[in-house]
Amino acid sequence: MISRETIDEVKNRMDIVDVISDFVSLKKSGQNYKALSPFNNEKTPSFFVVPSKGIFKDFSSGKGGDSFTFVMEHEKLSYAETIRYLAKKYGVEIKEDRTSSESKEEQSEREGLYILMNFAKEYYKNILTNSEEGRSIGLSYFRERGFNDRTIEQFELGYALEGWELFSKEAVGKGYNKELLEKTGLVVKKEDGSSYDRFRGRVIFPVHNLAGKVIAFGARMLGKEKNQPKYINSPETDIYHKSDALYGLYQGKNAIRQQDVCYLVEGYTDVISMHQSGVENVVASSGTALTENQIKLIRRFTENITVLFDGDNAGIKAALRGIDMILRGGLNVRVLLFPDNEDPDSFSRKLGTTEFQKYLKDHTQDFVSFKANLYATEAAGDPIRKAESIKEIVSSIAVIPDPIKRSVYIQETSHLLKISEQVLLSELNKILIADRRKSEKEKVRSQDVDVPATTVDDIGTTSTIDPKSLVYYQERETIRLLLNYADQTIEEHTLTDFLLHELDDVEFTNEVFREIYIKFKNAIQENKTIDSHYFLKDGNDAVRAMVSDLMTARYDTSPHWGDKFHIYIPKEKDVLNEMALTNVLRLKFRIVQKMMDDNLQQVKKAEAVGDWDELDKALEIQTGLKKAESELAESLGIVVAK
Ligand code: UTP
Ligand code: MN
Repeated sequence: MISRETIDEVKNRMDIVDVISDFVSLKKSGQNYKALSPFNNEKTPSFFVVPSKGIFKDFSSGKGGDSFTFVMEHEKLSYAETIRYLAKKYGVEIKEDRTSSESKEEQSEREGLYILMNFAKEYYKNILTNSEEGRSIGLSYFRERGFNDRTIEQFELGYALEGWELFSKEAVGKGYNKELLEKTGLVVKKEDGSSYDRFRGRVIFPVHNLAGKVIAFGARMLGKEKNQPKYINSPETDIYHKSDALYGLYQGKNAIRQQDVCYLVEGYTDVISMHQSGVENVVASSGTALTENQIKLIRRFTENITVLFDGDNAGIKAALRGIDMILRGGLNVRVLLFPDNEDPDSFSRKLGTTEFQKYLKDHTQDFVSFKANLYATEAAGDPIRKAESIKEIVSSIAVIPDPIKRSVYIQETSHLLKISEQVLLSELNKILIADRRKSEKEKVRSQDVDVPATTVDDIGTTSTIDPKSLVYYQERETIRLLLNYADQTIEEHTLTDFLLHELDDVEFTNEVFREIYIKFKNAIQENKTIDSHYFLKDGNDAVRAMVSDLMTARYDTSPHWGDKFHIYIPKEKDVLNEMALTNVLRLKFRIVQKMMDDNLQQVKKAEAVGDWDELDKALEIQTGLKKAESELAESLGIVVAK
């Protein structure tokens, strides 16, 4: 039991902004701070910290509370562990009440694992500097790699002695129980019941979680014995999930936040060497592609990631594929290539601090340009290879969630590869449509449909589809035409004139569309011309997102249109006449159908309450609408059920 006195002292000293900043990148917003929720994956910040009250509130998960609550929730710690953590952070001495006799066995198992891992870390550290074998083998190895004392201390490096049971014996002698030792993975149990130390005769790299607790170890061999793995790593345990951990994040998080970029490298030694060269905003994924959880972890500190590649060309294309995952996570990706046969570890030592930092600055490339250049040189003069390159690049652009970024990248690629934006857009849309169709299918399967799977051109078969969505799609198509072809002429008018005239009596139901539409209307009245750039520059967030979506995602109003029309895409301008007219008719058609749907509710209501006057009126309206529907359908060449 931790004494009341200790808890009060911690409370006095703790500062919620300071506490939370160790885990989340907070941005000042008036008196308060906000951030992306650390509990949910979100795109707009809904996590707030109110320093004046010492509380936080996370609207996306509903969690809220004070510094204690935050640390408990975020780090999955018990109350006692939380107090210990905060006491350590603020240098408060922990005084225990002697009322409860907590023994090692009674402590929670996770807490036990942390304690034992910490014991092991201290043990390996101590061996490194205070034993003959540690110094002559381990320490001299680190020296050879160029690690100085400060670095060794900062990363808490250690050494495991040669010998099968030296660590186990030490731990058991200190009162740790055998079962727990096996659970940490530090000791391996054999079938005959005997056991041995996992790490022997190797240098030790502890892996820390965000709170600085050791959750795993990596152990590197020293010699060159052929039939041994270079590294032996801790197995998965209750406190260590490989796919959720990032080596170096604990030591690098402040720098990542300050520099607003995170370098991604392969392994332990790359992280450590870069630190020593003054580049501390670096993490390693331990030789594998980043997982979704690791990306989420990085996003708490920055939206920018720069992937560092060794200078051997063979691996690059495979590695580039892993990057799509990072793009999908919404991060901005840059890449940096080292010269032949150099990795971050060797190269940072070779160049020294100043030169190395300059190299990073000068050689970081935007991901799309990098990929485009890589493929462009390869495909030069070979049309088939060039086509493959386009697919390859566009497939990466397609996974970027933000439509504004997508359109910027399309422009850039068009420039780099000297290919028209139209061609790239049609390639992009093929992919987007295929993806959307896939996710719509999944949605239908999971019974959680909010957009129809079939749309406008299956008019004969859409009776089961919500008319409201159909109006939405048709409104969207109208706006899309306006944005893309505002000043094209049809029947001696501009398309804008034509549409605004034809839709004079139509009110848009969707707020964003309405806003855009009204802007067009006002512009016409003032004899001005506006186009998509106007909205991208001056629109609010919703308008900008919609406009860029409509600029890139053409035809995705209907999955079927994609297949049917992609061959026509370059010709869209030629068929504009008909498209504009059809669109007007379809929009009206959809609106009439929606009105019928709404009116039908009136019919039913009147019937239910026996209001015969009202019923008469509603039925009359319904008949009128039905007639309008048939007329419109006839113009569109559609047969409507009677
Ligand atoms: P490296 O082979 O580059 O390790 O692997 P290193 O220690 O830097 O060796 P040298 O000095 O360049 O030859 C890079 C990372 O891949 C993971 C480790 O995280 C390592 O830091 N790895 C590698 C393993 O987990 N197991 C292995 O057997 C090899
Ligand atoms: Mn290496």
